[in-house]
Amino acid sequence: MPRLHVNIDHVATVRQARHSDTPDPVFAAAICELAGANGITVHLREDRRHIQDRDVRILKETVKTLLNVEVALVDDMLAIALEMRPDQVCIVPERREELTTEGGLDTAPCLDKLHTEVPKLKGAGIEVSLFVDPMPKPIEDAARCGADYVELHTGAYANARGKEREAELKRLQTAATYAHEMGLRVNAGHGLDYENVLPIAQLPYLEELNIGYAIVGRAVYVGLDQAVREMQDRILAAQPD
Ligand code: PXP
Repeated sequence: MPRLHVNIDHVATVRQARHSDTPDPVFAAAICELAGANGITVHLREDRRHIQDRDVRILKETVKTLLNVEVALVDDMLAIALEMRPDQVCIVPERREELTTEGGLDTAPCLDKLHTEVPKLKGAGIEVSLFVDPMPKPIEDAARCGADYVELHTGAYANARGKEREAELKRLQTAATYAHEMGLRVNAGHGLDYENVLPIAQLPYLEELNIGYAIVGRAVYVGLDQAVREMQDRILAAQPD
């Protein structure tokens, strides 16, 4: 069964709405873990719109499962990742004006940098993942630069309906198999919710799901503990008997 990593960025979004100290993503992470999350994910954005450096620093000390930090492929952020040494780093594309990460990493223009930076992170004992669209080229580039994982971007699948969603699912299935054949481990995430997660939780070779917005949103109604448990139940229900 794939492991559930809860992305707690939007706990910090609420805190930053008032530039205050609550709700604290550090507390939220502990509740997620107690509810059965297998890992905690945060995106330390260059503009610090939600997660702050202080959050990552404390989470590094307090998270008992696994801490995955998403960063852009830029020197400042990579230096912070190297200094903080989370268990995993996921390299993501970032644009200041976007509401959320909109697409996978365009690996072609940054291949040289990937070839330099991925080994540095791995040398520091950090597992490295690249957030990519479900297409052959970025998967091949991820394998060539020595990444451990690809995280397949499920946003197009999540936004599609009907036949289009079926086609997006097929692309993800093909990409997961291809990544495995290329020697990569396979994660997935973005835009997943309690309804659309089921077929994704059945992707071949899938190890980790990164889910944030849907869980934090549901937590407003039922509490964070229950929101995490309900998502774990969905992932479990998707597994064959
Ligand atoms: N994976 C990556 C790489 C992301 O950037 C995000 C959003 O921060 C997620 C997963 C989680 O997406 P969502 O909040 O839509 O569940």
